[in-house]
Amino acid sequence: MSWLSASLVLAFLFQQSWSDKSFEHLFSEDVSNISFPDNFIWGYASAAYQVEGGWDADGKSESIWDYDAHNHPDWFPEGQNGDVACDAYHKTDVDIDLLVYQGVKAYRFSISWPRVLPTGLVDNINEAGIAYYKDLITKLRANNIEPIVTMHHWDHPRILEEQGGFLNESLIVPAFVDYATLLWERFGDDVKWWTTFNEPKQTCGGGYDYGGISPQVRLSGVGGYICGHNVLKAHAKAYRVYDQKFRATQNGKVSMVIDTSWHEPASDSAEDIEASERQNLFHYGWFADPIVFGDYPEVMRQRVDERSRLQNLPASRLPYFTDEEKEELKGSYDYLAINMYTTDLAKWKDDDPIGDPSMSDDVSVTTYQPDDWEKTVTDWFKVVPWGARHLVRWIANRYGDGKGIIVTENGYHDNGNNLEDLDTRGRYHKLYLSNLNDAMYKDGVNLIGYIAWSLMNDVEWYAGWLVNLGHYHVDFYSPERTRTPKQSSVYYKKVVTTNCLVDVCEPAPRK
Ligand SMILES: *[C@@H]1O[C@H](CO)[C@@H](O)[C@H](O)[C@H]1NC(C)=O
Ligand SMILES: *[C@@H]1O[C@H](CO)[C@@H](O)[C@H](O)[C@H]1NC(C)=O
Repeated sequence: MSWLSASLVLAFLFQQSWSDKSFEHLFSEDVSNISFPDNFIWGYASAAYQVEGGWDADGKSESIWDYDAHNHPDWFPEGQNGDVACDAYHKTDVDIDLLVYQGVKAYRFSISWPRVLPTGLVDNINEAGIAYYKDLITKLRANNIEPIVTMHHWDHPRILEEQGGFLNESLIVPAFVDYATLLWERFGDDVKWWTTFNEPKQTCGGGYDYGGISPQVRLSGVGGYICGHNVLKAHAKAYRVYDQKFRATQNGKVSMVIDTSWHEPASDSAEDIEASERQNLFHYGWFADPIVFGDYPEVMRQRVDERSRLQNLPASRLPYFTDEEKEELKGSYDYLAINMYTTDLAKWKDDDPIGDPSMSDDVSVTTYQPDDWEKTVTDWFKVVPWGARHLVRWIANRYGDGKGIIVTENGYHDNGNNLEDLDTRGRYHKLYLSNLNDAMYKDGVNLIGYIAWSLMNDVEWYAGWLVNLGHYHVDFYSPERTRTPKQSSVYYKKVVTTNCLVDVCEPAPRK
């Protein structure tokens, strides 16, 4: 067979298998009318850099994001950074009122590491920063809203980055453990839900490997794994400190928030099913396997070791844990957390050639979203509600759901300015929640909470406020940063106060 005819046959085969699975029947507008359980945790989420502002208020130092905003202003839309953001630092009472009005049971927010520890280290505690969070937590509690606190949502102190940040184990691991310990000492009596890290795949992949988020260190195929290794060690050591010093008296729950898109096999072929599994393991499993089972997924270990060997490297680009570290990691979670937005199809492909290392070559899977899937304003983000059900089902099957699973982020991208967003953002939450409801009642997944991203428009990192997900609009051009409800907030309020997605629901089945 000539090269040309071979590639024609190949192209034909590709087309064949692309069309041999139909997804149409999965895109249903039917909405479940079974109530969520009474104790379901409904909430809103946010992150310090995106809402607080007050970037240098009362002794706070620069985070890596402040540093980017001040030294690389061209990385943000003009003037759209976190210096003031939603000014949440000065608007605790306003935002508590909104949360109370919305009827949510939980508020997920992050603590800014440089606000409480300007040097990054516990030798210099900023009591004004501690007082800000103490006030927020006290007021949430007074209103029966459960704080769910993230310790690291991407914004570590710049001063730590100058010494290597997450690539420097001897710096970042002890610094994080000390920081976590301080937060438990100061807030642990009032906070029962903790997450050490938010989306370490982004912190490490985007931050230290392929770029896209601060600090944009580009060490392709190397930096991400080193960072991830240090994040996992810091998490496990902090978790064991909680076990030893705080759990008996504080009785809280600690986990790590991991994000992934769902990767559905592009066809029913064994190859595509394997590709989908591999892609899911390199994304969710990269962090979930270590905290649940104590080590990286086997397929990740094999592939990165093998490709490193073929690159004539002296050691694997994916570092190894010692037996002691595996023990610390294994079971270092009290619930599973997932941030989810969209779904890709995963298609088998031949291994990428051995060249300059990259994480995507290590996986060697083709992912794509068909053109006819519903778009949002963001390239990678199509509306795929059934993917939510498949994803939590996969997590429950692989890791077990006995400790419960919480969707810690889910929300809809647009330009943020449309107040009449019932048919876009409102519908997005309704359809995703309906699929999650099916996962609970049809598949038996122990889903215990859903935290929408987000209460209000915010600073979407390098996108400024050009892209947004809030249920409230924020006037970023007014010193008041006025919050105005969108229709999605009305629908979400109805859902969280009735546990029902439609007008009338059947009661939740008894467990
Ligand atoms: C890593 O951190 C250690 C401990 O703080 C420090 O002594 C060292 O200089 C750092 N390494 C780099 C490359 O900055
Ligand atoms: C819920 O939906 C089912 C199936 O469509 C229907 O039979 C039932 O009457 C509905 N329940 C309520 C309370 O509307």
